[in-house]
Amino acid sequence: MTLTELLEIIEKTAVEAEREITDTQNLETLERIKNKYLSRQGAVAQLFQQLGVVPNEDRPAAGKNINELKLKLEDGWKKRKVELDSGGSSNIAGGRIQADYTLPGKDLPHGHEHVLTKTVNKMIDVFKYLGFNVADGPEIEDEYHNFEALNIPSTHPARDMQDTFYVHSFTEKDKCVDPLTRPAHLLRTHTSPVQIRVMKNSIPPLRVICPGRVYRHDEIDASHSTVFHQVEGLAVGEKITFAQLKGVLTAFIKTFFGDNTKARFRPSYFPFVEPGAEVDMTCPFCKGPGCNVCKYSGYVEILGAGMVHPNVFKAVGYDVKKYTGYAFGIGVERVAMLKYNINDMRLFYENDLRFINQF
Ligand code: DAH
Repeated sequence: MTLTELLEIIEKTAVEAEREITDTQNLETLERIKNKYLSRQGAVAQLFQQLGVVPNEDRPAAGKNINELKLKLEDGWKKRKVELDSGGSSNIAGGRIQADYTLPGKDLPHGHEHVLTKTVNKMIDVFKYLGFNVADGPEIEDEYHNFEALNIPSTHPARDMQDTFYVHSFTEKDKCVDPLTRPAHLLRTHTSPVQIRVMKNSIPPLRVICPGRVYRHDEIDASHSTVFHQVEGLAVGEKITFAQLKGVLTAFIKTFFGDNTKARFRPSYFPFVEPGAEVDMTCPFCKGPGCNVCKYSGYVEILGAGMVHPNVFKAVGYDVKKYTGYAFGIGVERVAMLKYNINDMRLFYENDLRFINQF
């Protein structure tokens, strides 16, 4: 056999084998192809045997070509095996499609609500059911709405620079006003200023809640954060009573923490209400007898509330003889910590998925 004849056979074998490899749709046929071409008795081995009949001087070139064919086929065979092992490919409409579209798709990971968002939304649901609307207010407030209109005099400790983040403001001439000499704007320290904004823009009767983010210049620890969340509540009308406040808050506590939970009202002081109260509920962990969460009292504090102070009504131009109202402020983190037994507030903001994915 001449070299040319042998090269022709090599070329033909290459074309045929490659077509068979790419056409095959399953591992069994692929295995058969291996036997046919690459085994000891296979086509390639037989070509090596033909070397004996090729003239001496052509043998190196012939051997090189058969070797190349062998490597090429081995390589093509391995690639096809990988493809078929991982689901295979098919010849549809003449193009190679690298997937089996009959297999179910891979599910992508889904995000979900953060536990604080979930808690606020649940709180909103409860209050909506009790007849409250939802109102919103700015996070950058002025001193008037955050303090003065709420009957918080300039001597009140809450106005201390330690507690409040003041924001530089600019005069008309674009000159920055020094916040120490003239603090005009601040990051709201509570959601109570939304009460003022709502009252200024509406005529009683009204019943609103105002959920939102608040800021305080606090040292961060297990129960303090510089940014946290509150839900403010306000009801104003001609015959709003403390008994109604008790009814609404008790309903909220029972809906949120279970029917057997009891609410307890203690006299307390907040400048914008009179009388003011702190509201406790039976400890959700020990349910009464006492544990280290409730410091063995059986009760945990959950919110502040009271009857709207006449000075607050005066600030918004409401007739204090005609209207009464109640207000309350609930810490969202506190509610979530009690609801889900979370003992460190910092967990809410660290975004550790091991924590977040539990809710
Ligand atoms: N604003 C208060 C705070 O941040 C919470 C509060 C207490 C709000 C009593 C109220 C209220 O509306 O009546 O600590």
